[in-house]
Amino acid sequence: EKQGYKHFMLKEIHEQPERITDTLRGRVSVDRGDVDFGPMEGIEDGWLDTLERIVFVACGTSYYAAQIAKYIIEDFSRVPVDVELASEFRYRNPIINERTLCVPMSQSGETADTLAAMRLAMELGAKTIAVCNVVESTMTREADGVIYTHAGPEIGVASTKAFSTQLVVGLMLGVWLGRRRGVLDEEGGREILEALRDVPQTMSKMLHEKAIYKHIAYNFSDVNSFLYLGRGNLYPIAAEGALKLKEISYIHAEGYAAGEMKHGPIALIDESLPVVVLIPKNRVYEKVFSNLEEVKARQGRLIVVATEGDDDVREFADVVLEIPDVPEYIQPLLTVVVMQLLAYHIADFKGTDVDQPRNLAKSVTVE
Ligand code: F6R
Repeated sequence: EKQGYKHFMLKEIHEQPERITDTLRGRVSVDRGDVDFGPMEGIEDGWLDTLERIVFVACGTSYYAAQIAKYIIEDFSRVPVDVELASEFRYRNPIINERTLCVPMSQSGETADTLAAMRLAMELGAKTIAVCNVVESTMTREADGVIYTHAGPEIGVASTKAFSTQLVVGLMLGVWLGRRRGVLDEEGGREILEALRDVPQTMSKMLHEKAIYKHIAYNFSDVNSFLYLGRGNLYPIAAEGALKLKEISYIHAEGYAAGEMKHGPIALIDESLPVVVLIPKNRVYEKVFSNLEEVKARQGRLIVVATEGDDDVREFADVVLEIPDVPEYIQPLLTVVVMQLLAYHIADFKGTDVDQPRNLAKSVTVE
């Protein structure tokens, strides 16, 4: 069932273009520049007009996907979005009312904390739309509406295709709300959906690369710690990259907002610390570029993720991993593939149990 791949995780990484196509299918109309999720009980256009706030609740990798959804939804629809760790949300006294939409985001639909956070929000009057991958899971049965990520069964404990399809749902939610709230017009919606439609093909091309990851694994698998830096919608991708690495390779890694480097982590930098910097061409490119200079000045080793053809970063980088030139809101979808492959090849080189890392369970149904 691994279809010739050494691990389920690698198979699932390679499946992503197809699963993204599945997630878009039947929901997106590029011509109309709009998205249709089908009927959701109690969540009609009239109610959406009165919507004041959206609260995502999630854990782990799904939490990082939700953080990216925040950037997108606020940008496309101007509805304020909060993203909360479910395990924190449920133990305070959150401000929720009938004009709140709560979105539990979960691969399994069974994560104990996320489920409890969703139930709490419902008790306080919120409407809920569950974004889940497992059909007929508990969250999907209890929520007012459901949007499935059509990632298919995810066997590898480290989440990959569930995450990328969650990002796709985040983009679709942004367009859907943006159109209903009158922030995006047909043309605006069409432009985003066209870019989204191109993702599977672009991503497929990236998946052919292998040699460079093996080269990195060979050179970097004996280090004790990695720092990942990203800014804007790539800050959560830096966090996700670090999470993937620690889960499957057991190497300590920390994901940080690039702008915060000088407020502490810069003290860690010396010739033994690899720093992964996410710096495709976007609105914060120049800002993140200064991080490259700062790391280099302290002899840190730089693994740089940049836009194809960006020669300026090469002067600083030990290794450059390229992504195609795409709009800013698509960049998380492509950079995360680089994060997944990086973690996978380092772990595989170390010989860990990639699909069943120690101490981890696929579905965390206990608190
Ligand atoms: C990381 C990972 C976990 C899950 C988390 C939430 O690779 O798989 O961090 O993302 O346990 O699980 P779900 O999405 O099922 O609620």
